[in-house]
Amino acid sequence: MKQRKLIVGNWKMNPESKDEARKIASDVKRAMKNIRKTNVVICPPFVYLSPLSGVSKGNLFLGAQNANAERLGALTGEVSFSELYQFNVRFVILGHSERRKMGETDEIINKKIKSVVSSGLNAIVCVGESVRDRNGDYFGFIRSQIHSALKDVNRKFLDRIIIAYEPLWAIGAKEAMQPRDLLETSIFIRKVLKDSYGSLSESIQILYGGAVDKINCAQLIEEGNVSGFLVGRESLRPKDFIEIIKIADQI
Ligand code: 13P
Repeated sequence: MKQRKLIVGNWKMNPESKDEARKIASDVKRAMKNIRKTNVVICPPFVYLSPLSGVSKGNLFLGAQNANAERLGALTGEVSFSELYQFNVRFVILGHSERRKMGETDEIINKKIKSVVSSGLNAIVCVGESVRDRNGDYFGFIRSQIHSALKDVNRKFLDRIIIAYEPLWAIGAKEAMQPRDLLETSIFIRKVLKDSYGSLSESIQILYGGAVDKINCAQLIEEGNVSGFLVGRESLRPKDFIEIIKIADQI
Protein backbone atom coordinates (compact mmCIF):
# COMPACT_ATOMS: atom_id res chain seq x y z
CA MET A 1 0.00 0.00 0.00
CA LYS A 2 1.43 3.36 -1.00
CA GLN A 3 0.95 5.85 1.81
CA ARG A 4 0.18 9.52 1.38
CA LYS A 5 3.25 11.61 1.99
CA LEU A 6 3.43 13.55 5.22
CA ILE A 7 5.66 16.59 5.69
CA VAL A 8 5.80 18.06 9.19
CA GLY A 9 7.38 21.41 10.00
CA ASN A 10 8.71 21.63 13.55
CA TRP A 11 9.22 25.35 14.17
CA LYS A 12 10.67 24.70 17.64
CA MET A 13 10.86 28.04 19.56
CA ASN A 14 10.59 30.21 16.41
CA PRO A 15 9.86 32.65 14.82
CA GLU A 16 10.24 35.70 17.03
CA SER A 17 7.02 37.49 16.06
CA LYS A 18 3.40 36.62 15.44
CA ASP A 19 3.55 38.44 12.10
CA GLU A 20 6.40 36.25 10.89
CA ALA A 21 4.47 33.17 12.02
CA ARG A 22 1.41 34.37 10.09
CA LYS A 23 3.49 35.00 6.99
CA ILE A 24 5.09 31.53 6.96
CA ALA A 25 1.74 29.85 7.54
CA SER A 26 -0.07 31.81 4.86
CA ASP A 27 2.67 31.20 2.29
CA VAL A 28 2.44 27.46 2.96
CA LYS A 29 -1.34 27.58 2.83
CA ARG A 30 -1.29 29.29 -0.55
CA ALA A 31 1.09 26.71 -1.97
CA MET A 32 -1.10 23.83 -0.79
CA LYS A 33 -3.63 24.56 -3.56
CA ASN A 34 -1.46 22.63 -5.99
CA ILE A 35 -0.52 19.79 -3.65
CA ARG A 36 -2.48 16.61 -4.20
CA LYS A 37 -0.88 13.56 -2.62
CA THR A 38 0.78 15.06 0.43
CA ASN A 39 -0.43 16.07 3.88
CA VAL A 40 1.43 18.89 5.58
CA VAL A 41 1.49 19.75 9.29
CA ILE A 42 2.93 22.94 10.72
CA CYS A 43 3.85 22.87 14.40
CA PRO A 44 4.36 26.38 15.79
CA PRO A 45 4.96 27.27 19.45
CA PHE A 46 1.79 27.11 21.61
CA VAL A 47 1.17 30.87 21.61
CA TYR A 48 0.88 30.99 17.81
CA LEU A 49 -1.66 28.17 17.62
CA SER A 50 -4.61 30.44 18.30
CA PRO A 51 -3.75 33.09 15.66
CA LEU A 52 -2.96 30.31 13.19
CA SER A 53 -5.92 28.07 13.95
CA GLY A 54 -7.59 29.19 10.70
CA VAL A 55 -4.83 27.88 8.42
CA SER A 56 -5.76 24.24 8.77
CA LYS A 57 -7.83 23.26 5.78
CA GLY A 58 -7.87 20.28 3.42
CA ASN A 59 -4.45 18.68 3.49
CA LEU A 60 -2.82 21.36 5.67
CA PHE A 61 -2.96 20.64 9.41
CA LEU A 62 -1.85 22.28 12.64
CA GLY A 63 0.30 20.43 15.14
CA ALA A 64 1.71 21.10 18.59
CA GLN A 65 5.21 20.35 19.84
CA ASN A 66 4.16 19.01 23.22
CA ALA A 67 1.28 18.78 25.70
CA ASN A 68 0.48 17.36 29.10
CA ALA A 69 -1.09 13.92 29.34
CA GLU A 70 -3.75 15.04 31.85
CA ARG A 71 -7.07 16.49 30.70
CA LEU A 72 -7.05 19.37 33.20
CA GLY A 73 -5.87 20.18 36.67
CA ALA A 74 -3.49 22.06 38.93
CA LEU A 75 -0.52 21.89 36.56
CA THR A 76 0.95 25.38 36.29
CA GLY A 77 2.37 26.18 32.88
CA GLU A 78 1.00 23.07 31.15
CA VAL A 79 -1.43 22.66 28.24
CA SER A 80 -3.66 19.63 27.63
CA PHE A 81 -4.48 17.80 24.43
CA SER A 82 -8.17 18.57 24.72
CA GLU A 83 -7.36 22.26 25.06
CA LEU A 84 -5.23 22.06 21.91
CA TYR A 85 -7.93 20.23 19.98
CA GLN A 86 -10.16 23.32 20.16
CA PHE A 87 -7.58 25.29 18.19
CA ASN A 88 -7.71 22.78 15.35
CA VAL A 89 -4.58 20.96 16.51
CA ARG A 90 -4.69 17.42 15.14
CA PHE A 91 -1.05 16.30 15.47
CA VAL A 92 1.40 16.42 18.36
CA ILE A 93 5.15 15.83 18.24
CA LEU A 94 6.18 13.64 21.17
CA GLY A 95 9.50 12.30 22.39
CA HIS A 96 11.60 14.80 20.48
CA SER A 97 15.23 14.52 21.59
CA GLU A 98 15.22 18.17 22.64
CA ARG A 99 12.42 17.40 25.10
CA ARG A 100 14.02 14.15 26.21
CA LYS A 101 17.09 16.26 27.04
CA MET A 102 14.86 18.47 29.23
CA GLY A 103 13.98 15.40 31.27
CA GLU A 104 11.13 13.66 29.45
CA THR A 105 11.40 9.95 30.16
CA ASP A 106 10.11 6.98 28.15
CA GLU A 107 7.30 6.60 30.72
CA ILE A 108 6.16 10.20 30.36
CA ILE A 109 6.28 9.93 26.57
CA ASN A 110 4.28 6.69 26.62
CA LYS A 111 1.61 8.29 28.84
CA LYS A 112 1.36 11.28 26.50
CA ILE A 113 1.06 9.08 23.41
CA LYS A 114 -1.82 7.13 24.97
CA SER A 115 -3.52 10.36 25.93
CA VAL A 116 -3.02 11.91 22.47
CA VAL A 117 -4.45 9.04 20.48
CA SER A 118 -7.42 8.55 22.78
CA SER A 119 -8.17 12.30 22.46
CA GLY A 120 -8.54 11.82 18.70
CA LEU A 121 -5.20 13.38 17.76
CA ASN A 122 -2.25 11.90 15.89
CA ALA A 123 1.06 11.31 17.67
CA ILE A 124 4.33 11.97 15.84
CA VAL A 125 6.64 9.85 17.95
CA CYS A 126 10.35 10.71 17.67
CA VAL A 127 12.99 8.04 18.08
CA GLY A 128 16.66 7.96 17.20
CA GLU A 129 20.11 7.12 18.46
CA SER A 130 22.72 9.64 19.54
CA VAL A 131 25.64 7.78 18.00
CA ARG A 132 26.08 5.03 15.43
CA ASP A 133 28.46 2.58 17.02
CA ARG A 134 30.33 0.05 14.91
CA ASN A 135 28.66 -3.02 16.42
CA GLY A 136 25.18 -1.74 15.64
CA ASP A 137 23.94 -1.37 19.21
CA TYR A 138 21.86 1.54 18.02
CA PHE A 139 19.40 -0.89 16.45
CA GLY A 140 18.58 -2.29 19.89
CA PHE A 141 18.28 1.25 21.22
CA ILE A 142 15.78 2.26 18.53
CA ARG A 143 13.80 -0.94 19.10
CA SER A 144 13.53 -0.30 22.82
CA GLN A 145 12.53 3.34 22.28
CA ILE A 146 9.70 2.18 20.02
CA HIS A 147 8.61 -0.54 22.42
CA SER A 148 8.49 1.78 25.43
CA ALA A 149 6.78 4.57 23.47
CA LEU A 150 4.01 2.27 22.24
CA LYS A 151 3.62 0.12 25.36
CA ASP A 152 -0.06 -0.70 25.94
CA VAL A 153 -1.27 1.68 23.23
CA ASN A 154 -4.68 0.38 22.15
CA ARG A 155 -4.33 -1.33 18.78
CA LYS A 156 -7.43 0.40 17.47
CA PHE A 157 -5.47 3.67 17.61
CA LEU A 158 -2.39 2.49 15.71
CA ASP A 159 -3.42 4.46 12.64
CA ARG A 160 -2.93 7.63 14.73
CA ILE A 161 0.73 6.81 15.30
CA ILE A 162 3.54 8.17 13.13
CA ILE A 163 7.15 7.27 13.82
CA ALA A 164 9.66 10.04 13.10
CA TYR A 165 13.16 8.62 12.98
CA GLU A 166 15.54 11.43 13.89
CA PRO A 167 19.11 10.37 14.58
CA LEU A 168 20.37 12.96 17.07
CA TRP A 169 23.62 13.48 15.22
CA ALA A 170 21.73 14.65 12.13
CA ILE A 171 19.49 17.17 13.92
CA GLY A 172 20.75 20.68 13.24
CA ALA A 173 23.66 19.18 11.31
CA LYS A 174 25.04 20.30 7.97
CA GLU A 175 24.24 17.06 6.23
CA ALA A 176 21.40 14.58 6.50
CA MET A 177 21.83 10.87 6.89
CA GLN A 178 22.90 8.92 3.81
CA PRO A 179 19.83 7.49 2.04
CA ARG A 180 21.24 3.93 2.07
CA ASP A 181 21.73 4.10 5.85
CA LEU A 182 18.21 5.48 6.18
CA LEU A 183 16.90 2.56 4.13
CA GLU A 184 18.55 0.07 6.46
CA THR A 185 17.04 1.82 9.49
CA SER A 186 13.57 2.29 8.02
CA ILE A 187 13.44 -1.42 7.11
CA PHE A 188 14.47 -2.20 10.67
CA ILE A 189 11.77 0.07 12.16
CA ARG A 190 9.16 -1.47 9.84
CA LYS A 191 10.18 -4.92 11.08
CA VAL A 192 10.01 -3.90 14.75
CA LEU A 193 6.48 -2.61 14.16
CA LYS A 194 5.46 -5.70 12.18
CA ASP A 195 6.81 -8.05 14.88
CA SER A 196 4.58 -6.30 17.43
CA TYR A 197 1.43 -5.62 15.44
CA GLY A 198 1.48 -7.74 12.28
CA SER A 199 -0.43 -6.32 9.35
CA LEU A 200 -2.00 -3.63 11.57
CA SER A 201 1.42 -1.95 11.64
CA GLU A 202 1.15 -1.09 7.95
CA SER A 203 -0.91 2.00 8.75
CA ILE A 204 1.98 3.49 10.76
CA GLN A 205 3.93 5.99 8.71
CA ILE A 206 7.69 6.31 9.07
CA LEU A 207 9.21 9.76 8.62
CA TYR A 208 12.81 10.91 8.66
CA GLY A 209 14.12 14.05 10.38
CA GLY A 210 17.54 15.69 10.53
CA ALA A 211 18.92 18.32 8.13
CA VAL A 212 16.29 17.71 5.47
CA ASP A 213 16.40 20.27 2.67
CA LYS A 214 15.21 20.75 -0.89
CA ILE A 215 18.40 19.19 -2.26
CA ASN A 216 18.43 15.93 -0.31
CA CYS A 217 14.70 15.32 0.14
CA ALA A 218 13.97 13.45 -3.10
CA GLN A 219 16.73 10.91 -2.57
CA LEU A 220 15.83 10.44 1.09
CA ILE A 221 12.24 9.54 0.18
CA GLU A 222 13.04 7.47 -2.88
CA GLU A 223 16.00 5.54 -1.54
CA GLY A 224 15.35 5.75 2.19
CA ASN A 225 11.87 4.23 1.98
CA VAL A 226 10.18 6.79 4.23
CA SER A 227 6.86 8.47 3.51
CA GLY A 228 7.86 11.96 4.57
CA PHE A 229 9.83 14.20 6.87
CA LEU A 230 10.00 16.04 10.13
CA VAL A 231 11.66 19.28 9.06
CA GLY A 232 13.32 21.75 11.45
CA ARG A 233 15.20 24.78 10.10
CA GLU A 234 13.87 24.60 6.55
CA SER A 235 10.27 24.71 7.76
CA LEU A 236 10.84 28.33 8.82
CA ARG A 237 11.87 29.32 5.31
CA PRO A 238 8.57 29.12 3.43
CA LYS A 239 10.14 29.01 -0.05
CA ASP A 240 12.37 26.07 0.82
CA PHE A 241 9.70 24.29 2.82
CA ILE A 242 7.24 24.61 -0.06
CA GLU A 243 9.89 23.26 -2.41
CA ILE A 244 10.32 20.19 -0.19
CA ILE A 245 6.53 19.70 -0.16
CA LYS A 246 6.32 20.00 -3.97
CA ILE A 247 9.17 17.54 -4.52
CA ALA A 248 7.64 15.02 -2.13
CA ASP A 249 4.26 15.41 -3.83
CA GLN A 250 5.73 14.51 -7.19
CA ILE A 251 7.32 11.25 -6.06
P1 13P B 1 16.71 20.26 11.38
O1 13P B 1 15.86 19.97 10.17
O2 13P B 1 16.91 21.71 11.62
O3 13P B 1 17.99 19.46 11.35
O4 13P B 1 15.89 19.75 12.67
C1 13P B 1 15.38 18.47 12.67
C2 13P B 1 14.42 18.35 13.80
O5 13P B 1 14.81 18.30 14.95
C3 13P B 1 12.98 18.33 13.48
O6 13P B 1 12.24 17.92 14.57
